[in-house]
Amino acid sequence: MSDVSAESPIETIIPNAKSSADSVSVDHTNVHVLENEVETLRIQNEAMRAKLLEASMVANNYLQEANNLKQQLEKLTNPPLFIASVLEVEDDLALIRQHGNNQEVMTQIPPEFEGEVEAGMRVCVNAAFSIISVISRAADVRAQVMEVIRSPGVNYDMIGGLEDVIKEVVESVELPLTEPELFENVGIEPPSGVLLYGPPGTGKTLIGKAVASEASATFIRMSGSDLVQKFVGEGARLVKDVFQLARDKAPSILFIDEIDAVGGMRTHDGTTGSAEVNRTMLQLLSEMDGFDTSGNVKIIAATNRVDLLDPALLRPGRFDRVIEIPLPDYEGRLEILKIHTTKMNLADDVDLDKIAKITDGLSGADLNIIIKEAGMFVIRRRGDSVAMQDIQDGFDKVVVDEEQANVPAGMFA
Ligand SMILES: Nc1ncnc2c1ncn2[C@@H]1O[C@H](COP(=O)(O)OP(=O)(O)OP(=O)(O)O)[C@@H](O)[C@H]1O
Ligand SMILES: [Mg+2]
Repeated sequence: MSDVSAESPIETIIPNAKSSADSVSVDHTNVHVLENEVETLRIQNEAMRAKLLEASMVANNYLQEANNLKQQLEKLTNPPLFIASVLEVEDDLALIRQHGNNQEVMTQIPPEFEGEVEAGMRVCVNAAFSIISVISRAADVRAQVMEVIRSPGVNYDMIGGLEDVIKEVVESVELPLTEPELFENVGIEPPSGVLLYGPPGTGKTLIGKAVASEASATFIRMSGSDLVQKFVGEGARLVKDVFQLARDKAPSILFIDEIDAVGGMRTHDGTTGSAEVNRTMLQLLSEMDGFDTSGNVKIIAATNRVDLLDPALLRPGRFDRVIEIPLPDYEGRLEILKIHTTKMNLADDVDLDKIAKITDGLSGADLNIIIKEAGMFVIRRRGDSVAMQDIQDGFDKVVVDEEQANVPAGMFA
């Protein structure tokens, strides 16, 4: 082949093929065959290389799977771990109590957990009571049970229909924080805390947040039911911690929600559950007794069931102000509706007065949801203003569908 270029593979195979082309009679067909063969080999080589790559990838996957299975097998064949609470820590020793059988043992803290294990936290131990892992740091538990808001950003204008209640709360909670000298001058001790009671969704939490905001205090919320349900065995300590936190963050409002969960009538049925609740409650009482009422921490507690509360909580020096937060009346409902629709684009046919009239028995939270649902209906139909029909639909969805109200549907029409 005369047009064979310099880089052609033929050159490598028959280096002097070109120069001797004239003298030696080269079999052109042969060269062509060889050339083809080289090309085929090259393609085969490439194909093999691709296959090799593929195979090594598959092999890798298998290796990984084998590793996973090995780990799973290890997990399955390992003896189970037990949960224990750390009671005390001294140098590299920890006194732990195993959950379930309450066995208490002293165990060495392994070097990898040195400085990490503290009293109050939960750990995993093996059958020899060696600490294998740390489940929760004590601080995590605290963070879960307490909600801390520097300044909640709620003001009294955002609460409808509760002027008298607000006045009373301001006197007993806000003033002692902002103008303590008023009380000193007159020579009376401000109340240590107030108890708000009333049906769900009537604005109890809202009032707590508003007082904290208006008094520039930190709002710390602790839920009584969380205390006894989620953190069994730790309730009493958490109560102690939350009071400490309130003092650290002072001026502060400590809001104890659902206090009936811990402050219900003390039961004596001997179950561990009631013993736990009683312990938590006793801790709460003792914290309140040791409380400096002239200090800048104030307690607001809330409950739906004041009738369930232990009378010990209502003794003077504890919650000596018990304030009822009732369901809103007509005027209250109208105010609440106005508050929740201020930012809304309302159509001309919307008559808040009419809505307030026929929503007897509903709470502020119910009204808020109806208004929000009405807004959603507008968004769904890509509208830009809320019409009376939307509020009717929101009302139907919230009240009629759930058969919560005694108000018949269609009254908006
Ligand atoms: N008086 C009110 N004025 C304005 N909004 C209200 C009022 N009461 C309730 N709301 C609305 O309902 C929501 C829930 O109220 P809040 O959490 O204060 O109720 P609560 O009394 O603490 O209820 P629960 O007993 O269930 O804890 C508020 O965020 C607010 O949107
Ligand atoms: Mg609440």
